[in-house]
Amino acid sequence: MEVRPNAGGFGAELRGIDVRGLDGAGFAALRRAWIAHAVLLLRDQVLTDDDLVAFSRRFGDLDLAPVQESGRSTVVGRPEIYVVSNVIENGVAIGSLGAGEAVWHTDMSYLPAPPMASLLYALEVPAEGGDTWFCSMYAALERLAPELRRRIAGRRVKHDGTYNSGGYVRQGVTPTDDPRAAPGALHPLICRHPESGREMLYLGRRRNAWLEGLDLAESDALLDAIWAGIDAPEIGWRHHWRPGDLVLWDNRCTMHRRDAFDPARRRIMHRTQVKGVAPPAAA
Ligand code: SIN
Repeated sequence: MEVRPNAGGFGAELRGIDVRGLDGAGFAALRRAWIAHAVLLLRDQVLTDDDLVAFSRRFGDLDLAPVQESGRSTVVGRPEIYVVSNVIENGVAIGSLGAGEAVWHTDMSYLPAPPMASLLYALEVPAEGGDTWFCSMYAALERLAPELRRRIAGRRVKHDGTYNSGGYVRQGVTPTDDPRAAPGALHPLICRHPESGREMLYLGRRRNAWLEGLDLAESDALLDAIWAGIDAPEIGWRHHWRPGDLVLWDNRCTMHRRDAFDPARRRIMHRTQVKGVAPPAAA
């Protein structure tokens, strides 16, 4: 196995691996690389849904996929797989998030115990657009001005459960734009990664976020100041997909977003999510 860190220093590509045939030592090495680099790309994987689920389960138990926007639950017989797609079949979307931009987010952080990992496998992708961007939440914290960091120390942030990253209202939720009334979970804004021991920002999504205990205007001003650093190219990595790409990210210390693409082109991705624990506050 060869670990090739990305040019910008964040994330890595693993070469020389077929995840279907990985022995115990190989998986341990892959897992160490995943903790060290936070986002891993493995190209040219040939995976059935069963293969994807079996490999994902080596990280731990899986969360069931969120209900998709159309109300379809998931892939028949595979409730762990979340379909990300713009494809319409018989008048019904086969997946979620359409062809528009998906804004910066951490997967399912509106839950009290969000997934620790997500694995996204590309089945069909457009030649242009639909790139996925990742950013390091360790680096996002390190880049905060000391005064801003002091002001947010010890605070909790509301992670909204109303809207998904494509801006669609989740099934069964009555939409509200008041973050205090919205469904979701409160998590520490500065967390300590349970495995690396490093401190990181834990933001989730900007829309409907709220810093507990502050009035909305003060909370919005602080959150806007924090979010202003997220797009910095120095802390991120952009991935242009090929069919057969498998990208796995540490959902605790990264965020991701996706570029829009031509809705006339097909994009089909299958995702699994590995169960995690409530994000621990930094001391
Ligand atoms: C996701 O947010 O999990 C999907 C990202 C993508 O479509 O590239």
